[in-house]
Amino acid sequence: MTEASRHDAWQAGGSYDNYMGRWSRRIAPRFLDWLAPEEGLEWLDVGCGTGELSDAIVSHCNPRGLIGIDQAEGFLLTARDKVPDPRVKFDVGQAQSLPFPSQSFDVVVSGLMLNFVSDRPEALGEMKRVARGDGTVAYYVWDYPGGGVEFLRAFWMAAIDLDPKAQDLGEDRRFPFCTSEGLAALAEEAGLAEVDVTAIEAPTHFQDFDDFWRPFTLGTGPAPGYCVNLPPEERQQLKERLQTSLPYARDGSIPLKTRAWAVRGRVS
Ligand SMILES: C[S@@+](CC[C@H](N)C(=O)[O-])C[C@H]1O[C@@H](n2cnc3c(N)ncnc32)[C@H](O)[C@@H]1O
Repeated sequence: MTEASRHDAWQAGGSYDNYMGRWSRRIAPRFLDWLAPEEGLEWLDVGCGTGELSDAIVSHCNPRGLIGIDQAEGFLLTARDKVPDPRVKFDVGQAQSLPFPSQSFDVVVSGLMLNFVSDRPEALGEMKRVARGDGTVAYYVWDYPGGGVEFLRAFWMAAIDLDPKAQDLGEDRRFPFCTSEGLAALAEEAGLAEVDVTAIEAPTHFQDFDDFWRPFTLGTGPAPGYCVNLPPEERQQLKERLQTSLPYARDGSIPLKTRAWAVRGRVS
């Protein structure tokens, strides 16, 4: 495990939802609108986490069945509570070795996961293997290199100002392939046909500074992991730096945005 990835071990579902799940929830329905799938299909959600994308599939796509797979059992407990639907099952599994026979699903999707997998071609190869002929493989990740998660960019800019060593921990440095071209290339290398990429944007509106700051103190995810491991006085400095540098609206809220790249390809 590298220094940069040591806080990627996700487990606490409630903390994740406060930090990232609430914004992933905004992107998921827009991603599904773009896919525009038929109803009654068999779905697989790889790296389903606390079930944000799975929940959106159930409410928007009327699936015949849906399996969510994630390596973090702790997240799956939250997902099972969030999506109590008899058509849906959540199991522990690894993206690089999906526990299913070939050609089991009509649509294989993944939200905000692919960048965290060490062997991305292997994971995409698996997603393609378990999709039926003529099925769809699709995924989205944040536009990290383009500063597409403004609240993370603000966090790391303040952190790096105070501690230049934090430079290599930011997602823009760690995940340079999360561009339109980089992600399309991954899909093409996996042998997907008719590869298409689009940008999906959504607002991230924080009620006040506490709403912005608290998730970073809960420890789930790379930036919160960095934050909770700082000595208390350095964490306080980081808090104060952010407090004075964020853009506030008149009512004290903090209006920021996210942008994800969504990719889809057909299994030929
Ligand atoms: C940022 S979260 C995204 C969760 C969810 N899909 C969402 O959109 O909110 C990344 C998820 O990928 C999972 N993950 C990372 N690497 C994985 C792997 N190799 N196999 C399965 N799950 C993985 C993590 O456990 C975590 O739940």
